[in-house]
Amino acid sequence: MSGLFMRLVDQDRKRCPFFVNGVACSARHGDTIMTALLTLNSHLRLTEFTGSPRAGFCLMGACQDCVVLQENGERVRACSTLLQENMRFVIPEQTR
Ligand code: FES
Repeated sequence: MSGLFMRLVDQDRKRCPFFVNGVACSARHGDTIMTALLTLNSHLRLTEFTGSPRAGFCLMGACQDCVVLQENGERVRACSTLLQENMRFVIPEQTR
């Protein structure tokens, strides 16, 4: 996976394990879900209408463009929710 975000600071914070499509990944404690996912991946979800990739819009919890699906079926705003250890996300692969 190639990330959209690049971590420039706080490289020494404790690691926080999580999963994307069943694959073990790692971010840093204190990261938002958006930061954790977009340092690894180019998008958070695909639109229901066109299938185009989305990576958030407002980045402050107002638009819901960053809502990601968890394996348990719950959806969460990635930009305004802190990553918790062992969260499990389902991120569809971009096909075009
Ligand atoms: S990017 Fe708008 S709510 Fe998260």
